[in-house]
Amino acid sequence: MRKKIVAGNWKMNTTPVEGVELAKEVVAGGRNVDKPVDFIVAPPFTHLSEVMKVTRGTGVAVSAQNCAAEAKGAYTGEVSAAMIASLGVEYVILGHSERREYYGETSQTLNKKMEQAYANNLVPIYCIGEKLEEREAGKHFEVVKAQIEEVVFNLDAEKFAKLIIAYEPVWAIGTGKTATSDQAQEIHAYIRTVLKDKFGDAADSTPILYGGSCNPSNAAELFSKEDVDGGLIGGASLKAGDFIAIGRSF
Ligand code: PGA
Repeated sequence: MRKKIVAGNWKMNTTPVEGVELAKEVVAGGRNVDKPVDFIVAPPFTHLSEVMKVTRGTGVAVSAQNCAAEAKGAYTGEVSAAMIASLGVEYVILGHSERREYYGETSQTLNKKMEQAYANNLVPIYCIGEKLEEREAGKHFEVVKAQIEEVVFNLDAEKFAKLIIAYEPVWAIGTGKTATSDQAQEIHAYIRTVLKDKFGDAADSTPILYGGSCNPSNAAELFSKEDVDGGLIGGASLKAGDFIAIGRSF
């Protein structure tokens, strides 16, 4: 039985005060969800400490949206995995397409970030997914395969056992255009096959989340698919009611 996870990627939204309010609402809403689903919220760095205070011990876990590739030192503006973990944060989103696209993150950088995450006991939520032109050219399978091979294949079995994958087709992120549940299932199953070829049956336990315009109206259909183990939610995670409703969709 794989873990069911709904993670909210707040991106660069909310002030710290608004973020704490949102986190409180998620905690309150999550209490009434009698489904075996893990809720994770991923606020901006500036809110992590305060959000931890209202989520600790509640069952709602906290993730960072990124971490530095280096451990410490003269890297102005960076936030290390150790700093994040010291707050009690448990997860870190790595390789989000916005980081790849706007901040030039490559597999080389991501390998270093993964190493930092694991060294500090943060569970990576590793994001993969193709762009529109890659999907249209029928290259989506090879794109996600490369994103897995270049980073995930460098993990040993112990690290792999903790990993969460988020498949997020770039053309579906923030566009209101969701992958169909069949498209999601097709590629999630493929991702699992790629992982199985390398890691064997351990890949049966890897949560593979879908991301990209997931909302309360389409979540149930997406989550009904065998290899869709939950969602990485952007826009809809900024409203606690919608986020919780997505969590109820299993
Ligand atoms: P979206 O974002 O739900 O707003 O499409 C998903 C994500 O980027 O994680």
